[in-house]
Amino acid sequence: MPQAELRYQSGFGNEFATEAVKGALPVGQNAPQKAPLGLYTEQLSGTAFTAPRATNRRTWTYRIRPSVTHKPFRELPAEVSLFRSGPFTEVPTPPNQMRWNPVPMPEKKTDFVEGIVTMGGSGDPAMQVGVGIHLYAANAPMQGRYFYNADGEMMIVPQQGKLGIHTELGILDVAPGEIGVVPRGMKMRVTMEGASRGYICENYGLTFRLPELGAIGANGLANPRDFLTPVAAYEDEEGDFRIVGKFLGRMWEAEIDHSPLDVVAWHGNYAPYKYDLARFNCINTVSFDHPDPSIYTVMTSPSVMAGTANADFAIFPPRWLVAEHTFRPPWFHRNMMNEFMGLVFGEYDAKAEGFLPGGASLHNCMSGHGPDAETFEKASKAELKPVKLDNTLAFMWETGLPVRPTKFALETKILQHEYYECWQGLKKHFRSS
Ligand SMILES: [Fe+2]
Repeated sequence: MPQAELRYQSGFGNEFATEAVKGALPVGQNAPQKAPLGLYTEQLSGTAFTAPRATNRRTWTYRIRPSVTHKPFRELPAEVSLFRSGPFTEVPTPPNQMRWNPVPMPEKKTDFVEGIVTMGGSGDPAMQVGVGIHLYAANAPMQGRYFYNADGEMMIVPQQGKLGIHTELGILDVAPGEIGVVPRGMKMRVTMEGASRGYICENYGLTFRLPELGAIGANGLANPRDFLTPVAAYEDEEGDFRIVGKFLGRMWEAEIDHSPLDVVAWHGNYAPYKYDLARFNCINTVSFDHPDPSIYTVMTSPSVMAGTANADFAIFPPRWLVAEHTFRPPWFHRNMMNEFMGLVFGEYDAKAEGFLPGGASLHNCMSGHGPDAETFEKASKAELKPVKLDNTLAFMWETGLPVRPTKFALETKILQHEYYECWQGLKKHFRSS
């Protein structure tokens, strides 16, 4: 097996072209009568054929065997996993603010897919609307097992431990502070060294893309050149392997006698990518107040309703706070949209304590939220000199549909039942004269 170097191509949604063996990529056409080097030609369509050119996604692969060469899939029993899917109707959804401690690391050998637990979600993969929100805690590489998700693309946000995401189109090396996105349907196996943990947004809707920049102009926020897509890397291996597929919310398994990561060359714009969140060009006020948190949007999955995302991915990175005569932390808020947050490292500026790296919070449609009592008192009296908020990386998936927690999320020991107490100390300050 050729040992692929970890190398990348820069750009977002480009027409990439890459070959792991010289001459494997046909020149000037997609499907020659005989593909070079005895390879098979296969197209992978990530959008409808007739999607507008700007959003059309497809990739031509030149592979050792076509994807169809496997035995029939059999359903895996639901009990083997806490990986759940929409529609999320297991239990009623309370309007309470919710917060969770980090999911504990597994004690037994657990690979990436085995380590996924679903916290909640919205919509339904059969309708191609909504998201599944998951945590993973794992400690072992996937061996002889490959995974693909027909229900949605997967945005992976490691919080601890670097992941090697080996996909059909190449290898993504994704560390905490970075994100990796694997398109819907793309086969992968995930490797890791030691205990690893993080977050996953499984996007049933339109693919994540860069937001419009409006009055910001041509530059800023996440810049396309900082997105990295792997070069072709293939496995030419035979053995008694398994493919696990997620389709319409259920897990299926099929036998396969070779590695499905056997693409020797490819060209196209439907491809996995990673992005270093430290490259985000954070924009905010230099006068007073602060813009809505949409100013922190890294990527967006639009819905059919203009300006109303199926899911936005926003981050709260290190940045200067300079606003004058302003309450600087996030203000008290109720929202038609729904806010699921995670913390990669450091502290989040709206909370004094209790929101831990690897933990999560959920503030659903019209549920009040905001700084805790301690943060409010401190920020109301703080001297408003320029302050660098450093060593912090929180993020939010803000979704158009309410996130319905799973039974696991509502019954687990990591749920902080006392979360509401952080606001109970907010005092009455009103005086009518
Ligand atoms: Fe909010």
